[in-house]
Amino acid sequence: MKKIAILASGSGSNAENIYNYFRNSKKVKIELILTNNKNAFVIERAKKLGIKCQIFSKQELKSNYVLDILQKNNVDFVVLAGFLLLIPSNIIEKYTNKIINIHPALLPKYGGKGMYGDIVHKAVIENKEKESGITIHYVNEKYDEGAIIFQAKYNIETTDTAELLAKKIHKLEYEHFPKVIDELIR
Ligand code: GAR
Repeated sequence: MKKIAILASGSGSNAENIYNYFRNSKKVKIELILTNNKNAFVIERAKKLGIKCQIFSKQELKSNYVLDILQKNNVDFVVLAGFLLLIPSNIIEKYTNKIINIHPALLPKYGGKGMYGDIVHKAVIENKEKESGITIHYVNEKYDEGAIIFQAKYNIETTDTAELLAKKIHKLEYEHFPKVIDELIR
């Protein structure tokens, strides 16, 4: 059984979708959810789904605290799903090419520090881009710069607002993210 930890800072709709995809799997288990945000809705989702959930501070992420949790739980693979902090090198060294992130745009465009969630969609709409999409990539020590694994595009319609775009991008994420994880982990 391969064990996955999901790191999330906000709503956690991707975390729930990934959990549902693997819920009957005999090969892959969502072992735990980790969050740096004590007010994140992902905590409620974890409770509802019966997944172990732990909260940590920014300082604890930088120390060995989070790495210890991952190792004590025998986590094989780490998924960032709306996680907003930088992963420190101690975790990257132990989990090289075993940490992936989803970004709600077509990297390298609209990536980097401070580019997350609705901020990304607003910028894409303001710049009158013709397309956006999702990027799934390996995580390294820099925001959104790890090797790209998968991208899916969405053609922006003239009637799309940032809010509508966010919904359409989420739909793409729900469709592709679990499948990409499944392929990588096997
Ligand atoms: C997702 O759209 C994800 O791509 C994005 O945050 C959202 C989280 O939604 N991640 C980033 O912007 C990372 N830079 P969720 O909490 O409902 O899964």
